[in-house]
Amino acid sequence: MDRIVVHKSGPLSGIVDVPGAKNSVLKLMVASLFAEGCHELTNVPGISDVDTMGRLLGALGVRVEHSLHDPSVLHLTNNGNIRTQAPPELVESIRASINLLGPLLACCGRVRLDLPGGDDFGARPIDMHIAGLTAMGAEFDPATGFIEARAEALHGADIELDFPSVGATENIVTAAIHASGVTTIRHAAREPEVADLCTMLVEMGANISGIGTSVITVEGVERGSLRPVTHAVVGDRVQAATYLAAAAVAGGEVTVAGSSAQHMEVLLRRMHDMGPDISAVPGGVRIESDGYLRAVDIQTLPYPGIATDYKPLLVTMLAVAEGIGIVTENLYPGRFRYVEELSKLGADIRTDGHHAIIRGVDGLRGAAVSAPDIRAGAALVVAGLAAQGRTTISGVDHIDRGYDDIVGRLCGIGAAVERVTG
Ligand code: UD1
Repeated sequence: MDRIVVHKSGPLSGIVDVPGAKNSVLKLMVASLFAEGCHELTNVPGISDVDTMGRLLGALGVRVEHSLHDPSVLHLTNNGNIRTQAPPELVESIRASINLLGPLLACCGRVRLDLPGGDDFGARPIDMHIAGLTAMGAEFDPATGFIEARAEALHGADIELDFPSVGATENIVTAAIHASGVTTIRHAAREPEVADLCTMLVEMGANISGIGTSVITVEGVERGSLRPVTHAVVGDRVQAATYLAAAAVAGGEVTVAGSSAQHMEVLLRRMHDMGPDISAVPGGVRIESDGYLRAVDIQTLPYPGIATDYKPLLVTMLAVAEGIGIVTENLYPGRFRYVEELSKLGADIRTDGHHAIIRGVDGLRGAAVSAPDIRAGAALVVAGLAAQGRTTISGVDHIDRGYDDIVGRLCGIGAAVERVTG
């Protein structure tokens, strides 16, 4: 099994380019179910979840291949013969498999899926997905133990979400593409990745308005009327935040290109409050840090608030900041599992329910740790940059699910990081 070995590093310098977002590309791939022909996605990250989704779509009848000339280009060929049942082992290995629900109901009128997998942050219910689709005429059979639904004909509905869920918003939007009449989603998720999916669907011929706002309206169009398009995946704001956090703890002057500062506005303000000088530059963000950080309090919220996916990075920054920071997790109460691993590096963190209290320490020390999930794994790599000695991170397969060559990218800005096999 591979491990990532990190030595104390800094100051970092140079430019690091981030690719497209995991939480967008997987859903854009699923959008290929809507139109026969060859779709093209560009700015595709080289991550294992893309391979998993490729196999999943392959099992449903869409051929997915990387361009021979450019691995960041993906070709998806839908030959019009779509199956509605997916292999359980693939569905169970990524959260985004739940995004098959809306498109399969819209295009085929039926679907049967096992429960989706993904990072283990505790309970990840899908009640809002089911309630929304039921309001549109889908009939779920709870007795089967699967997510099994049928819909002879979906119809528009006025749906108010209890919480702006990313996945529920996406499933309702996609289910509404061919529904009769108008579907309105209130309290919809506004994440840039949700907007990216809606934008691609509009390019394909769907009728969606209110993109990027909390009220999205979809007017159904005829089945078979959507066409394949070429679309560039929106830049990955979480990968971008990772390299910003790396520069913040190690010090240095780094430009992170490929992700919009506008998509990270609240995060950048909070990072700036901690000490580093942060500015938007054309096509990205520039950070200057002397490695000195001061504590702030942080709470995770739906977009445009601070994303829960940034949190392990911020906790890592607070671990080496001056003072005490309180972090409140409002989305996934169970999402503090990596705290134990950070503590092995000398971090002083106490958790209480959905709060973490982080007392900054003068320095971390290297140790052997294990990545519990994608973002926490990346945060452990960042922590290693601020730790004396050698930090060894196992569970690298989690990091590979969402990070495209984190080791190469960090080396490119001068960090002492390597990947070892065996
Ligand atoms: C997506 C992202 C994930 C990110 C999360 C929040 C993907 C593949 N994953 O996950 O990386 O951390 O958004 O930004 O895009 N909820 C319910 N019932 C539902 C649906 C959600 O109670 O039917 C709750 C969840 O338990 C959670 C909150 O709503 O507390 C947000 O979940 P949601 O926005 O749906 O996240 P995902 O789409 O699963």
